[in-house]
Amino acid sequence: MSERIALVTGANKGIGLEVARGLGAAGATVYLGARQPALGEAAAAQLRGEGHDVRFLELDVTSALHVSAAAALLHREHGRLDILVNNAAIGLDFTPPSQVSMASLRAIFETNTFAPMALIHELLPLLRASAAGRIINVSSDFASLTLNTTPKTPHRKAISLAYPASKAALNMLTVQYAKELRDSTIRINAVDPGFTDTDMTAGMGNATRPPAQGAVAIVRLALAGDDSPHGTYVNEDGPLPW
Ligand SMILES: NC(=O)c1ccc[n+]([C@@H]2O[C@H](COP(=O)([O-])OP(=O)(O)OC[C@H]3O[C@@H](n4cnc5c(N)ncnc54)[C@H](OP(=O)(O)O)[C@@H]3O)[C@@H](O)[C@H]2O)c1
Repeated sequence: MSERIALVTGANKGIGLEVARGLGAAGATVYLGARQPALGEAAAAQLRGEGHDVRFLELDVTSALHVSAAAALLHREHGRLDILVNNAAIGLDFTPPSQVSMASLRAIFETNTFAPMALIHELLPLLRASAAGRIINVSSDFASLTLNTTPKTPHRKAISLAYPASKAALNMLTVQYAKELRDSTIRINAVDPGFTDTDMTAGMGNATRPPAQGAVAIVRLALAGDDSPHGTYVNEDGPLPW
């Protein structure tokens, strides 16, 4: 495919920004989704300054209006979408289950689970119009039921509810879409970027991995060719246990 059209959500900073940079460097036309226009414009301008074709798209992923406007714009300008990276997320914390408010739980699921689902629903016709649509759901190793129940893992020790549950649901969404899309040219995968030094992990002390490293596995799968895996849950080193 000569020119890929890509959309990355939550791409004004952190791992999303690096995914946008990586896809731009690979020659894609990248729509940099961000909910705060000033930050999104600035990030897109920075990447354009590096020579990449990156365009800001105002996209609060929890807004049905923004999601349908994004689909309309992509339809109008390109008639297809080749790469969707569901990256935007909130709520990594270690509030124990009994302390989590329903409002917080709902807000986290809205952003981390329902928004990717809404985006896939809305953009599926455009991904089907691509010769090789790619959907990456940015997940987390904290979503792994296996790691959370295996003695001596850091995941077993960390007690949290909203974020891991929202990402576990995102993993299941990935699996179910993968089954439905098996005979299409679309490939969908869940990718854990690894414990990365971003605003999300600020204050947790020990995340030293730079955001560009967190973007590597996401960009690789987003650009994968006909041999792309499908319905997998991976990090940079390979498959993760569900
Ligand atoms: N960092 C890690 O160690 C780690 C590990 C595993 C998985 N992940 C995953 O990697 C992805 C990127 O995380 P990160 O570490 O780069 O976090 P980050 O620096 O906090 O970036 C999160 C991005 O999501 C955006 N966002 C949040 N809610 C949004 C909404 N409603 N609409 C649009 N954008 C929204 C934020 O925008 P604002 O600037 O407007 O808030 C920001 O651009 C997430 O899916 C996260 O769960 C991260």
